[in-house]
Amino acid sequence: MRQKKLKFVDLNLIDRMGVTHDQMPIDFPDRPIHLEIGSGKGQFITKMAAAHPKIHFVAMEVNINVCYRIAEKKAAMGLDNLSIILDDASNVSLYLGKRRAQRLYLLFSDPWPKKRHHKRRLTYPTYLTLYKGIMTDDAQMVFRTDHAAFFEDSLLYMHANARLIDVTYDLPRSEFMTEYEEKKRQNGPIHQLIAEVNHDA
Ligand SMILES: C[S@@+](CC[C@H](N)C(=O)[O-])C[C@H]1O[C@@H](n2cnc3c(N)ncnc32)[C@H](O)[C@@H]1O
Repeated sequence: MRQKKLKFVDLNLIDRMGVTHDQMPIDFPDRPIHLEIGSGKGQFITKMAAAHPKIHFVAMEVNINVCYRIAEKKAAMGLDNLSIILDDASNVSLYLGKRRAQRLYLLFSDPWPKKRHHKRRLTYPTYLTLYKGIMTDDAQMVFRTDHAAFFEDSLLYMHANARLIDVTYDLPRSEFMTEYEEKKRQNGPIHQLIAEVNHDA
C-alpha cells in the first residue's frame, strides 16, 4: 500500500487511538467476529462495521501509517464494533482465540509475483493452516484480487485447505470496496473466491 510516512505517527499515538499491538488475547464482545488481514487504509472494514453493528470487526494491518488511517476513520465514524491490530498476519493467533472468527477477508493482498516470494502471499498454505486455527467450523474466507496469476495459484492453495463455495472472475461493483478495488477496477476485472474452512483437511 502506497502510504507516505507520517512523521507524527508513533506507537504512543497509536496506543492512544486504541490500536492493539501487545500480542495478547483480545477480550472480544460475545458477537460474531469478522476479520480482515491487510486492511490498508480501512475503507472496506469501517463501512462494513457501520453497516453491520451486530458483528464485531477486526482489522489487522502491519504498516503503522496505514493503521493510523484506519483508526482515524474509526474515530470519525464513532464505531464501537471495530478492533484494530497493528501486527503481522503471522501473529494473528496471539490476538484471537481458537475457532473464533466466522469470516476472514483477504482483499487485494500483495501478489508477490516472483516464485521465490510466493510463501509471503497471505493465501499461501502455511497462512491458510494458521487461519484455520482461529476460525470456526463453518467459517468463510473471502479473497479478492485483480491479479490473474495470484488468483489461479490461490484457488490451488484453497483446494487443499478449504471447500470452494463461489468463484467469480468479474465481480460487480458494490458499496463495500477497498481503496485498491476502486483503483484496480479501472484496469480490468476483479476476481473473487469464497471458501469454507475445512478443519478436516
Ligand atoms: C496491496 S495493499 C491492499 C490494502 C487494502 N486491502 C486494499 O484493498 O485497499 C496490502 C496491504 O496489506 C498489508 N500487509 C501486507 N502483508 C501483511 C502482513 N503479513 N500482515 C498484515 N498486513 C499485511 C500491507 O501493509 C498493505 O496495507
